[in-house]
Amino acid sequence: MAQRVHDELVIVLDFGSQTAQLIARRVREAGVFSMMVRPDISPAEVRTMNPKGIILSGGPSSVYEAGAPRCDPAIFDLGIPVLGICYGMQLACQTMGGKVSPAGHREFGRANLTVTDKSDLLAAIPGKTSVWMSHGDQVTGLGEAGFETLASTPTCPQAAVRLVKGGRTFYGVQFHPEVTHTPHGGEIIRNFLFEVCGCSGTWKMADFAKEEIARIREQVGNDRVICGLSGGVDSSVAAVLLHEAIREQLTCVFVDNGLLRKNERELVEATFKDHFKIDLRVADASDAFLSDLAGVTDPQEKRKRIGARFIKVFDEASDSVGNAKYLAQGTLYPDVIESGHGHAGQSANIKLHHNVGGLPADMRFRLIEPLRNLFKDEVRQLGEVLGIPAQIVWRHPFPGPGLAVRVLGEVTRDRLEILRDCDEILLEEIVANELYRRTSQVFAVLLPVKSVGVMGDGRTYDSVVAIRAVETQDFMTADWARIPFDVLATISNRIINEVRGVNRVVYDISSKPPATIEWE
Ligand code: XMP
Repeated sequence: MAQRVHDELVIVLDFGSQTAQLIARRVREAGVFSMMVRPDISPAEVRTMNPKGIILSGGPSSVYEAGAPRCDPAIFDLGIPVLGICYGMQLACQTMGGKVSPAGHREFGRANLTVTDKSDLLAAIPGKTSVWMSHGDQVTGLGEAGFETLASTPTCPQAAVRLVKGGRTFYGVQFHPEVTHTPHGGEIIRNFLFEVCGCSGTWKMADFAKEEIARIREQVGNDRVICGLSGGVDSSVAAVLLHEAIREQLTCVFVDNGLLRKNERELVEATFKDHFKIDLRVADASDAFLSDLAGVTDPQEKRKRIGARFIKVFDEASDSVGNAKYLAQGTLYPDVIESGHGHAGQSANIKLHHNVGGLPADMRFRLIEPLRNLFKDEVRQLGEVLGIPAQIVWRHPFPGPGLAVRVLGEVTRDRLEILRDCDEILLEEIVANELYRRTSQVFAVLLPVKSVGVMGDGRTYDSVVAIRAVETQDFMTADWARIPFDVLATISNRIINEVRGVNRVVYDISSKPPATIEWE
């Protein structure tokens, strides 16, 4: 076992709820380290991890379904407090002698909770408060086991229960305290951590870094690791974390596909090679990518060709590194869950993410994914702890196919050059006007359209550029950013005056859905 640098851990058994990782995150926010584990983890493994508390997440199954995920019942007898949420509560109550039945109707949304026992889990929670529910089954009978009711809603008499008896300490809530729609949810989780489990709440992101560094060292031993570095937040944080752990056993590969923003390659080299002294190999494959893209206008065909070429170039570059055993990736938790690769394998497969689902089947490397338990903002926090410059830590995302999906229609060197210049001006103005941190993604798009203009005494017939700026939490939905008109005016003036070949700038005012963030 890697040396434990945190002395308090709470594990979350993942039964497949979309919000399961949010539970771990709320626990970390309260200053207690938390990670997700498989729902069928053995009691012996749990004992080795020595957690202060165990949380059973919700999940889409019904406890009555054949094949519904279960935990080992001996988990309840380890002398470690357990909190069951939604499905986790139903499973625990059923296991310990309670009765679970289908609710009169599927309950989804806000419900009014009446708290009747404020002695521990619900300490300092208002007598009447709202909670978020999403369930088909519910606990209807408490059996002989000794459960006590702590709170109820009009349709759910056992909305919160306790069982403290014979070495067992169990709390169950039918609602979801981890979501923001439950206004006192954070306090309920903190009550479990501090009142029930006796945690002290001193964990910090710096501890995660130390722990992960120790874990990576142990996993890698004397072997060599390759890390694909894109210059984005995730791969940058993964690379620096790995470098802290294994120094010269790490080689990073950066593929210059000729579809990058202006000075991107230089920024990556300056940051990782010069500043962090990482062994960085730059594979310059612009010619190959651009010749693959010649004459291609269909967006999916562009992606396909870029993806195929990327794997080839990356493979060649990693061959030249020699006997690497591991491939490191900056996969985050939302990437894992979107691909349906969560612990319970239960979450709906929303989208096959390129990081997780797109690896070649004959992968000769073992994977290292040190960020797979974290959310984006936690990764940024970790990046700051590791001393990565703000310019990288706070970057907006940039798509893998790069400017190829922002040069609409055929991708040529000339059109890429025009777009790069426009994009540089746009970002300069967004940063200068302190809008970068207030927006989620800002970029320019070169349209396959020419329009008429006048410049001096002459008529022009040049390209149109669109500006896209969005605000979003999760990139699944997004609103267009209300960039002040005077900033838009400066951007437009500068682009038209400074970039040859552009005589018109338009602003994209579409939200997602129905539009997407990228134009292709
Ligand atoms: P859309 O356009 O789907 O974009 O609303 C959502 C987010 O995903 C990024 N994006 C991509 N990222 N490869 C990537 O790595 C892609 O092919 C790709 N397409 C879109 C987009 O920039 C936004 O952040």
